[in-house]
Amino acid sequence: MEKLNVGIVGIGAISGIYLDNLTGVFGDRVEVTTVTDLVPERASEAAKKYGARVVASAEELVAAEAVDLVLNLTIPKEHFEVAMMAVRAGKHVYNEKPLCIQREEAAELLAAAEEAGVRVGCSPDTVLGAGIQTCRKLLNDGWIGAPVAATAFMVNHGHESWHPDPEFYYQVGGGPMFDMGPYYLSTLVNLMGPAVRLSGAAKKSFETRTITSEKKHGKVVPVEVPTHVAGTVEFETGAVATVITSFDIWASTLPRIEIYGTEGSMLVPDPNTFGGPVMVRRAGDSEWSQMPLTHDHPVNSRGLGVADMAECIASGDKAMHRANGEIANHVLEIMHGFHDAASSGRYYEMQTKCRRPDPRPMRKVV
Ligand SMILES: NC(=O)c1ccc[n+]([C@@H]2O[C@H](COP(=O)([O-])OP(=O)(O)OC[C@H]3O[C@@H](n4cnc5c(N)ncnc54)[C@H](O)[C@@H]3O)[C@@H](O)[C@H]2O)c1
Repeated sequence: MEKLNVGIVGIGAISGIYLDNLTGVFGDRVEVTTVTDLVPERASEAAKKYGARVVASAEELVAAEAVDLVLNLTIPKEHFEVAMMAVRAGKHVYNEKPLCIQREEAAELLAAAEEAGVRVGCSPDTVLGAGIQTCRKLLNDGWIGAPVAATAFMVNHGHESWHPDPEFYYQVGGGPMFDMGPYYLSTLVNLMGPAVRLSGAAKKSFETRTITSEKKHGKVVPVEVPTHVAGTVEFETGAVATVITSFDIWASTLPRIEIYGTEGSMLVPDPNTFGGPVMVRRAGDSEWSQMPLTHDHPVNSRGLGVADMAECIASGDKAMHRANGEIANHVLEIMHGFHDAASSGRYYEMQTKCRRPDPRPMRKVV
């Protein structure tokens, strides 16, 4: 296939694994031609290491002839502006999560892309990895019957014990739901389909946080957002999920994601990873069984969503790329919906819909 030329905006913490994978395992589908960052040394170091060209700004990068797709690895509050810049220049764009911060921004971005005839992709692409694709196959094949319910729990005590600059986790756009919700909710939507109605309860258990990581040890940070967000999701299928994301919990034994079907239960692997284990326990079984992984990419394969997008674009037809803006927009609405339901005391009725993307092809057995 003809390779898609990729330009990257934002050469920060997460960019290394993308660069490794896009120039390595996915190098047959994409070519990283151009990079830029507000901190020029970051871009020039990456350019040297990976054989790309540096440009001075995002504006210059989106306009470059050698860029077909803009990979937007900036921080969340920049996602909308950089993505709109790409779309206005007639380029496909793939954002790191969340798609944007506000629902209105996401809607505007998708409408502009549609009008320009370009595609919008968005992480997480962990849902395309071996673990969650195996779950999808087992569900499709009826291993646990029809899903009736699910749980999704992401609980810890925040990131101030290890992250060097953790302030943003406690500011607007942060909090446990917007930080980690995309992994858990994209997984639920991929496996169970779109949501139609939500309930929510949200609270802030601590007015301040004290940083204990090295650089800013002892600094006290005000908490501006809810740090414990609980909710229910009713899916179009009638299944119901219970979701908790929290930065207020020191220790717990909760699983990450479980799906309960009419004929059994499934333990879904950590949705922030690409691999297993996938466990199933069917009605009548006395213990859980670990299932063999049926799909490729069990290790950190960030960039898989971009490679998948490149394949769909190269195929020349209208095939839907899998880590797409439609799903990310739906997930963004769910995250806001929990908070809206919590503050209004009423159910939140979902406005957006999304289609489930096709499963990835199974691993070839040689
Ligand atoms: N760090 C992680 O472990 C991780 C994991 C998964 C997803 N993510 C997501 O990846 C994104 C980036 O996270 P990160 O941890 O790499 O952040 P980071 O702060 O380390 O890197 C962001 C980089 O973008 C650059 N930047 C910001 N605005 C820019 C602009 N307008 N033009 C050019 N460069 C710009 C910054 O200078 C910085 O180098 C976020 O959306 C985050 O949610 C991060």
